[in-house]
Amino acid sequence: MYDVLTVREDFPLLKNVIYLDNAATTQTPVQAVSAMLDYFYKYAANHGRGAHRLARETTDHYEDARDELASFFNMDVEKTVFTKNATEGINVVSRGFPWKQGGHVIVTLVEHHSNLLPWMRLKESGVELTVIKPGKDGIIDPEDIRSSINDRTQLIAVNHVSNVFGSIQDIGKIISLARMEGVKVLVDGSQSAGNMPIDIKVCDPDFFVCPGHKGLLGPQGTGLLYIKEPDSIEPLLLGGGMVSSVTPDSFRMEPSPAKFEAGTPNIPGVIGLGRAVEYVKDIGVHNIEKHELSLARKTALLLSEIHGVEVYGPQNRAGVVSFNVVGMNAHDVAMILDQTRNICVRSGYHCAMPSVDHLGVKGTVRASFALYNTEEEVEALIRTVSDIVSLVL
Ligand SMILES: Cc1ncc(COP(=O)(O)O)c(C=O)c1O
Repeated sequence: MYDVLTVREDFPLLKNVIYLDNAATTQTPVQAVSAMLDYFYKYAANHGRGAHRLARETTDHYEDARDELASFFNMDVEKTVFTKNATEGINVVSRGFPWKQGGHVIVTLVEHHSNLLPWMRLKESGVELTVIKPGKDGIIDPEDIRSSINDRTQLIAVNHVSNVFGSIQDIGKIISLARMEGVKVLVDGSQSAGNMPIDIKVCDPDFFVCPGHKGLLGPQGTGLLYIKEPDSIEPLLLGGGMVSSVTPDSFRMEPSPAKFEAGTPNIPGVIGLGRAVEYVKDIGVHNIEKHELSLARKTALLLSEIHGVEVYGPQNRAGVVSFNVVGMNAHDVAMILDQTRNICVRSGYHCAMPSVDHLGVKGTVRASFALYNTEEEVEALIRTVSDIVSLVL
């Protein structure tokens, strides 16, 4: 294991707050911030576009970050595409996939809007959508997916971990059943990347997306898209940096990943992300997973013991705990936590209205954990929620 207090020194902001909104975005370690400062102060230029020394140095650092990410997830470098967030990755696939007229896509009800709306829009192009319902705990039964596959099904899009329930989906099983039916799978790893070990060559999805700014500890405006067969997908954006030749009436695209990265990318962000991932790797994802799961499961247990608190999601959850104080609006609870004890949690629908509706409530309070959270922070949360409950009882 690692020493949490030593790790916290790399996140100066944590001296002032109890930050439990890591499912929305995490803090970035000083090592990654300083890698970004190095870019601005020492070698800033554009990527891949010049022969001069700064452009070459920038390109080297940017591509080093790609190597870092590819090695972290065991992905081929040429299939490792930088995006600005998870949402962009999903939209690249939904827009660029070779849909057939009358095609069919399967998603689940426990998706973030980012992994729901891009598929809904396909109805306009004649692609049918099936939305699979989870159990009460947010877990999808792979058999429900299997029984929804028909001879027109082209793709299944599913989260690895729900940002509302903290439920962990059996993506291994979903991918293997899809493979047997000749159906492609997109995994939304937004709540699992950097939080639990993922080996892309082992789980073998056709597409994998994640943000850089959650479990990977990178800055906002970064994300990752893995495409197993890049030639099968059309890029979303066309423009500079993604073409090898252009005439007045035609162009030839570069191979992946350049094909999917038109325009100037978020160069400092990607460089910071590369350094952040190195940081995560040094601590060890297995260690991070163990730590986050232990905090989240303890939180869920202690909250469920408070009379007047409802906790959602399965016992075997990832680092996300949704709950409500019965009779109180989730935003009010979050505001009291912040204003009385500097505890930052998320409240509301978490960009996943169908998931929250499935619980039959109008929002939840969500505490979510990262490698730098402590048992003491969990105890402060529990104490404060108990105090809030005593106000309403
Ligand atoms: C499960 C899930 N998918 C997708 C997203 C969207 O991520 P981004 O805002 O980086 O596009 C989130 C963000 O919270 C998420 O939790």
